[in-house]
Amino acid sequence: MDVLRIQGGATLNGTVQVSGAKNACLPVFAATLLTAEPVIIENVPDLSDIRFMAEILRSLGADVTNDAPGRWCVTAKNIVSKAPYELVRKMRASVCLMGPLIGRMKGCDVSMPGGCVIGPRPIDLHLKGFRKIGCEITVEGGYMHVDATNAKGTHVFLGGRFGSTVTGTANLLMAAVLTPGTTRLESAACEPEIPDLCEMLIKMGARIWGVGSHSLVIEGVKSLHGCTHRVIPDRIEAGTYVIGAAMTGGDVVVRGIPSHYLGALIDKMELAGVPVESPNADTLFVRGSARKPAPVDVVTMPHPGFPTDLQAQMCAMLALTPGLSIVTEKIYPNRFMHVPELQRMGADIAIEGPSAIINGRNRLSGAPVMASDLRASAALVLAGLAADGETWIQRIYHLDRGYEKLDDKFRQLGANIERLHESKMPKGMLED
Ligand code: EPU
Repeated sequence: MDVLRIQGGATLNGTVQVSGAKNACLPVFAATLLTAEPVIIENVPDLSDIRFMAEILRSLGADVTNDAPGRWCVTAKNIVSKAPYELVRKMRASVCLMGPLIGRMKGCDVSMPGGCVIGPRPIDLHLKGFRKIGCEITVEGGYMHVDATNAKGTHVFLGGRFGSTVTGTANLLMAAVLTPGTTRLESAACEPEIPDLCEMLIKMGARIWGVGSHSLVIEGVKSLHGCTHRVIPDRIEAGTYVIGAAMTGGDVVVRGIPSHYLGALIDKMELAGVPVESPNADTLFVRGSARKPAPVDVVTMPHPGFPTDLQAQMCAMLALTPGLSIVTEKIYPNRFMHVPELQRMGADIAIEGPSAIINGRNRLSGAPVMASDLRASAALVLAGLAADGETWIQRIYHLDRGYEKLDDKFRQLGANIERLHESKMPKGMLED
């Protein structure tokens, strides 16, 4: 296994290009199952989660090729509708295969996803929505057996305790486009990944109104056709560079990201005193050299609120921002696995219920730390870049699930970061 070694203290400066969004790609790949014709997907990042999604589609019978960098072609001519446990357990997002299988195959057998390190992640809202449109669902032997022969469009309210559900909305959309009648999804998620999926479905022949709003109206059609779709840029990757520039006091141009994807982060940065300009439609210019950030309070919310997927990175920044900040997690109240590792680097953070009370310090010190999930890994990289001394990060396979070449991109910006085989770690640091 590989590890990252970071020598902290370098200021990030220069230009970085954002890759395609992993979280947009996963439903887009699933949507290829809605037609027997070829679908071409462009701007796909090179990530283990994408290769894994391709493997699942192949296991269902689709022909999946990666004919050029970032370009995939999926032809789902003859497919089966069973997604086995061995595959689903490796990636929760594979639950979004249910929608297209219900739409196209009028039923499916998909393994129930298991636990998740960032906290409970139920799929009750997906199932409630499918039942509302007339699917019969039984759960047995760890599998969800869905019979959608009598499915019919109707009103579905998709809101839950924590607001809207992103994958649940994608799932219902993909089922509804091939379900007879009109489906109205209320309290639908409007994270940018959902309008992106809608745009692709419309290109395939789907009839959808209200794109980008919390109320989607879908009129089912008999069949869909192939298309070419370019996925949107990764707003979380872009946000990670914005925070990195602020933490190291550098000036960074982040290319390929429209500012409206990151309105809540830009607002927080400005409140913290770090200017973030938008010189053109898809570029951000972070002037981290202008001022060291001041403390701010952050509450995560569904889009357009502050994204939970940037909460860990923000905690890293605020741990190094002298003064008191409070970060409250309203989407996954237990998503604080990065905190004990940041504490190993000298951060002063107390967890009180769903909030992290951060007493920001002047310095963090490099240490051997352990990545626990994708965004926690990114937070540790940022902390390592800004800390004094050397940080070693283990279990970086979490990072490779969702960030394309993050270490290369930070190196281009001037960071002293390298990927090494774990055997290169100093004696005594390696986990058992
Ligand atoms: N929820 C329910 N019932 C459901 C579905 C969700 O109670 O049936 C709750 C969840 O437990 C959570 C909230 O609703 O508290 C929001 O969950 P949502 O369904 O929106 O999350 P998701 O679709 O499973 C996606 C991203 C996550 C991101 C969340 C929130 C993908 C593949 N995953 O998950 O990304 O944190 O939306 O924005 O798109 C990541 O990239 O690191 C990541 C975890």
